[in-house]
Amino acid sequence: MSPILQRLLELSAKPARIVLGLISGTSADAISVAICRIKGGGIPTPGNPGAEVELIQYYEHPYAASVRRQVFGAADLNVRTIAELHVQVGELFADACLSAIQAAKLTPEEIDLIGSHGQTLYHHSSMPGVPRATLQVGDGDQIAERTGICVISDFRSRDIAAGGEGAPLTPFSDLILYAGPAGASANRRRVILNLGGIANVTILDPDPDRVFGFDTGPANSLLDRLAVQLSGGELTCDLDGRLARSGTVNAALLDDLLTTDPFLQRRPPKSTGFEMYGDAFLERAVAAHGRRDHDLMATLTEFTARSITKALDRFVVDPPVGEIIVAGGGARNPALMERIRANMNPVPVRDSEEVGVSSSAREAMAFALFANEALLGHPTSLPSVTGARTPVILGKWSFPSA
Ligand SMILES: Nc1ncnc2c1ncn2[C@@H]1O[C@H](COP(=O)(O)OP(=O)(O)O)[C@@H](O)[C@H]1O
Ligand SMILES: [Mg+2]
Repeated sequence: MSPILQRLLELSAKPARIVLGLISGTSADAISVAICRIKGGGIPTPGNPGAEVELIQYYEHPYAASVRRQVFGAADLNVRTIAELHVQVGELFADACLSAIQAAKLTPEEIDLIGSHGQTLYHHSSMPGVPRATLQVGDGDQIAERTGICVISDFRSRDIAAGGEGAPLTPFSDLILYAGPAGASANRRRVILNLGGIANVTILDPDPDRVFGFDTGPANSLLDRLAVQLSGGELTCDLDGRLARSGTVNAALLDDLLTTDPFLQRRPPKSTGFEMYGDAFLERAVAAHGRRDHDLMATLTEFTARSITKALDRFVVDPPVGEIIVAGGGARNPALMERIRANMNPVPVRDSEEVGVSSSAREAMAFALFANEALLGHPTSLPSVTGARTPVILGKWSFPSA
């Protein structure tokens, strides 16, 4: 038998594996790495614990400002630059793996598997007539070559090939991370809200077939871009929501954005990216508002909060939302959180940490879980979320040299 098949067989037979998951989200702020111990696999069901995951180490690897600029300006990149970025981000991801392994006082030989999401450069926005397509750079082969570890990457393409949106993917891992005994009940749904560059929700349900999720629209994407512009590049985000808190909402612009935005009107399944909520959107808002100022930050913060809460009001009914658990960097923006809480009142809005799941590590842990499931041959796409024709195994393999 080929040594690589032998290795995969041995790995899949282990009762517990050390799996490293990593991602740089649409905010392109840092590479998030989670080293996890995962026992078993699968979604927990009555009588079967499913995958049991323990976070050993969370680590954030800095992202060069030049890479973030290229990612934000991806629409203007030529093919050569994209090809080069695929290699460069792969190298950076490999460095991030090695640094995280060192921080955990482990050696690469002790890591069984890597699950790498990569860096999204394009994701379609579910609009009629626009083909579904997605592109993540950060070549898994670079990571395998440099770390000597088996890598699974490019998790979204297979779902798109099966007729799905390719996003959001984390509802599957949320079923493992959050649906324990305190999960949803028949008359009260627990919603996991992730505030990355884009906001996405998982709606948990005691019946796995009724679990669903979708992208609601922007989270930090517009706020980060405006913060960079207002501070002349000194800020990378509206730090602690200070700019929004010192401005006043432009009510007419808010109303216009909420009523005319085509993505917000669409029913799930739906997914989006910064082609929809990036530079072009911000420029339109600046033109309508007449200037770049703190009032525009307050308006976009309220727009972001309402785009989330209106989607929950409209699409999560019977039973409605009972509780919201927030993860992702946006949970650290008090201005945004205050507006989400106010709009959801009296539904409780809690931080993911309160229910024992690291808010920062959640997405990186998700890709460790996806890699573990792929090794075991389990499908991880949820057709009830992405609209795919059938559940499929996500991810592509890269093998290290023998
Ligand atoms: N103290 C803070 N104040 C405001 N925003 C913050 C703060 N900390 C983090 N953020 C936001 O969180 C984003 C990163 O969140 P993250 O979950 O990593 O998103 P992604 O998954 O898109 O990379 C930053 O770009 C920033 O917008
Ligand atoms: Mg991030």
